[in-house]
Amino acid sequence: MAEYTLVVDKTGELRMDADAKRERYGVVLDQIRATLQSERDLLAGMASIVCLLHNAFPYYFWTGFYRRVAERMLLVGPYQGTMGCLWIPFERGVCGAAARDGRTVIVEDVHAFPGHIACDSASASEIVVPVFDAADRLIAVLDVDSTIPAAFDQVDREHLETIVALLRGKEALPVVSM
Ligand code: SME
Repeated sequence: MAEYTLVVDKTGELRMDADAKRERYGVVLDQIRATLQSERDLLAGMASIVCLLHNAFPYYFWTGFYRRVAERMLLVGPYQGTMGCLWIPFERGVCGAAARDGRTVIVEDVHAFPGHIACDSASASEIVVPVFDAADRLIAVLDVDSTIPAAFDQVDREHLETIVALLRGKEALPVVSM
């Protein structure tokens, strides 16, 4: 049975070193695996991942998915943090670049990234990880922003790629009309 009490304060020292990150990702990965193993619904899975990640890391400022809702268009949600931009075309921003290329993008300084979309001017760095379904089609990206520069590294990439792979095979359960 996983513990779900890891809730961080977003003030004070936000930065974590690689060992501290690895240890924390280990705990969160156990929580996410335990939550997702018996859950088929994609949106419930995404919402749980966002909640558990956002509340585990002090340097996470905005944590959320952009779902692919058209051939070359992303739409926000679920997410935690300040107000996010709603629609992002594949041609724009860090999210668009990760969606276009199907590769994780780490940006140490968002102000230096051509076409970066500033949903909140407090963001300084970010990581965007593509999400694929069981047939290897891109269905979403996971976007995490930080208020501290160069907050994300290969430790974040490795663990976030492992985490989003747990969504493979899950589907949006149909909404029934009453
Ligand atoms: N910065 C992102 C947009 C999403 S928000 O930061 C929540 C981008 O450039 O794609």
